[in-house]
Amino acid sequence: MPSHSPSKIFVIGATGAQGMPVVSGLVADKKYSVRALSRDPNSRRAKALLALGNVEILEGTFADEETLRQGFRGCDGAYVNIDGFNSGEKTELFWAIRSYEIAIEEGVKFFVYGNLDYALKKGGYDSKFRTGHYDGKGRIAEWILWQNEENKDRMGAAVFTTGPYMEMAISAWTPMSPTVEDGIATWRVPLGDGAVPHVALEDCSYYARWLFDNAERANGMKLEVAIEQVDYQKLATAFEKVTGHPARYIDTDLETYWTSGSLSRAAKAPAGYNADLADKSTMTVKQNFTGFWNSWKNETVKRDYALLDEIHPNRIKSVEDWLRREDQLGRELGKGSLWERIQPENLYKAPPLLKLSEDNRTGRL
Ligand SMILES: NC(=O)c1ccc[n+]([C@@H]2O[C@H](COP(=O)([O-])OP(=O)(O)OC[C@H]3O[C@@H](n4cnc5c(N)ncnc54)[C@H](OP(=O)(O)O)[C@@H]3O)[C@@H](O)[C@H]2O)c1
Repeated sequence: MPSHSPSKIFVIGATGAQGMPVVSGLVADKKYSVRALSRDPNSRRAKALLALGNVEILEGTFADEETLRQGFRGCDGAYVNIDGFNSGEKTELFWAIRSYEIAIEEGVKFFVYGNLDYALKKGGYDSKFRTGHYDGKGRIAEWILWQNEENKDRMGAAVFTTGPYMEMAISAWTPMSPTVEDGIATWRVPLGDGAVPHVALEDCSYYARWLFDNAERANGMKLEVAIEQVDYQKLATAFEKVTGHPARYIDTDLETYWTSGSLSRAAKAPAGYNADLADKSTMTVKQNFTGFWNSWKNETVKRDYALLDEIHPNRIKSVEDWLRREDQLGRELGKGSLWERIQPENLYKAPPLLKLSEDNRTGRL
C-alpha cells in the first residue's frame, strides 16, 4: 500500500474557530506546511495564520471548482471543513462531495473531512432531531467512508467528528451564550436532563494532527471526539468551583428559548446566510437549532471515551478541567478571569469565537 503520510495540507475553513487551532497544530513544528483557503486574506485571522510560518493563503471560495482545484493541486493532504452556516445544508452536500472528488483527481493522498454527527439518523430518523448543519455533514461523512472502501489505496480518508465547541458556552453570539443575572452566571437552554458532547478546540488541534501523523491507521476511520457528556448542572457547578462565583442552569422550554434566548433574534433567518428561504429545503435557524437541542436533550449522540483516552491520553476529560485551563489561559493572555470575561460589557466586546460573527455575516448570529 502506498504511503498516505502527507507533507502539504490544503485547509478549507482555516481562519475559523476550528481551523485556527488545527492549522497551528499542523505547522507548529514545521512537519507540515498548509495552504489555507480564505475569501478574506487581509483579515486579522488570515494574517495570524501567515505569521505562524509554513502557511500560505489561497484567496477564494470553496463554492468554485477552479478554486478547489487550485487549492488541492500540489498538496498531498487535505482538511476540509465546509461552512454549512454559509452554504446551508443542501449546497454543503454538493461542495463537500465535489471537494472529495477533486481532491482525488488532483492527487491528494490523505483527506480529512471535518464532520458533525448525522443527528437525524442517530435520532432514529425522527424529524424532531433534524439539524441541517449536522445532517449535511453527517451524510457526506458516510458517503466518503463508503467511497473510501474502493479508493483507500489511491487517497486515504478519515472522518473527524467534532461537536459544539466548549468555548461557545462562554462566548457571545452562540446557542449557549451565558448571561449574568443578579450576579449569577446563568445558562438558559432547552436541555432538560440531557447533555452536550462539547469539544475542546485545543484537543481538536491534537486530534487533527494525530490523524495526519497516523494516516495509515486513520485511513477509513471515523474519529468522534468530545470532552465528556456535559450536562449544564455540571457546567454550572464546575463554573462555581473554578471561579468562586455563583452559577446556575435553567432548563428553558423551546418556546421561551425562541422568544428570549440567545438565538431568538435570528430565529426566522435561514440556517446558512447564503441559503434561500424561498427554497423549501432551507431550514430556519429556529428549525435547525430545535433539532440540535432535541438531540442533546435526548442524548442520541455518544462517544467512545476509551478510544479517545488511547489516542490522546492527556486530553481534557471534564468540563471542570476545561474551565480551569480556560480561566488560567485567559488570565495569562490578559483577557481576565472567566468571571470577568462573561460579564456582558466584556463578553460582547471581545473578538467573537466564530469568524462568521466577527464578520457580522448573519446579523451576528
Ligand atoms: N460552532 C461550533 O460549535 C461548531 C463545532 C463543530 C463544527 N462546526 C462547523 O464548522 C463550520 C464552520 O467553521 P467554524 O466553526 O470554524 O466557524 P467560523 O469561525 O465562523 O469559520 C468559518 C470558516 O469557514 C470559512 N468559509 C466560509 N465560507 C467560505 C467560502 N465560501 N469559501 C471558503 N471558506 C469559507 C471561513 O473563511 P474566510 O471567512 O476566511 O473565507 C472560516 O474559515 C460549520 O459547518 C459548522 O457547522 C461548528
